[in-house]
Amino acid sequence: MEKVKRIGILTSGGDSPGMNAAVVSVARCAGQKGLQLMGIKRGYNGLLGLSDKPEDDIEVLDLETVLDIMDMRGTYLRTARCLPFLQHEVRAKAAEDLKKQGIEALVVIGGDGSYHGALELCKLGVPCIGIPGTIDNDLSYTEATLGYDTAVNVCVDAVRSIRATSRSHDRPAVVEVMGRNCGDIAMRTAIATGAEMVIVPEMEWDMLELAERLKYLFKKGNTRATLIISEHCWHKMKPFDWRKTIADSGRVIHDDDPMNSERLALVLKILTNTEARATVIGYTQRGAIPTAYDSAFAFDAGRMAVDLLTHNDPGLKDGYAIGVRDGRVYSTPFTNALANDNQKFFDEDLYRMINKL
Ligand code: F6P
Repeated sequence: MEKVKRIGILTSGGDSPGMNAAVVSVARCAGQKGLQLMGIKRGYNGLLGLSDKPEDDIEVLDLETVLDIMDMRGTYLRTARCLPFLQHEVRAKAAEDLKKQGIEALVVIGGDGSYHGALELCKLGVPCIGIPGTIDNDLSYTEATLGYDTAVNVCVDAVRSIRATSRSHDRPAVVEVMGRNCGDIAMRTAIATGAEMVIVPEMEWDMLELAERLKYLFKKGNTRATLIISEHCWHKMKPFDWRKTIADSGRVIHDDDPMNSERLALVLKILTNTEARATVIGYTQRGAIPTAYDSAFAFDAGRMAVDLLTHNDPGLKDGYAIGVRDGRVYSTPFTNALANDNQKFFDEDLYRMINKL
């Protein structure tokens, strides 16, 4: 492959703390190696000319432009989930347009959906480097994704505060964290805060067992017991007629009302005769300032991305994903990174231990 001279960068999927730091790192390292960096707005949408002002969708990112980005939350480049990009013709047109603009390679910062798009672009002759920007930590090839450490720290901070109020009022707490289909944020938060119960999408759970455990903890004098639940764990609830429990207590519930953490807390309140309350931590996990770990990870990943793009490596045409292995940043071909999709290791022993301690 000829050495690249002009590269693009985009952030895609849910925003994640550290995305801006990764853009700054790529800009700094690219600048030092004489590459021009083009920032593409709103994920893959920025390649499709769909916005009101397509001329603003791609901008030069020189060092002066990116200097302040480091201190910003969210993602300066904006982000989106781009459904049209699932179609081959749309990707083929995007690849053609990139080539016309002289953008020879792309750095894609996002999660597994973004990686699949990047892999397809590689097949169309646009080599891509992936940086795993997602709070979910749901990619099996890497020990950490960019933003995960920050999200866990946000959750830990929130749970510590919630537990203080729980203790003051003798009220158990239900705290919902993000993570899509991966329970890592919930598990890590539970370990770090000493939470007594955790529910994750990887494991089946039982409402009555949960209520028994809460009653037991209360009886032992632990009146600030905390249940951390990972979003999307509802399909793993063993059959239990929670609507009837709510209706029997004299409250209004409709057939199409979904289960959520608020209703879970209500059911526990009814079953255990405690004042269980729910908190959803939500987007504070995504809009937070990156921790030192995530900022440094972003720097290392950006630097490695530029190194890979400038080393004239024959494997570059198939693309690389950057990750963490044995605590260090490394790269692996996209196909390897995506080979074990959905097979992320889940520590069942640890899960049982948390729920027993
Ligand atoms: O992938 C990040 C994430 O925050 C997941 O944890 C969550 O399931 C999803 O995005 C929510 O997406 P949004 O609120 O942007 O639609």
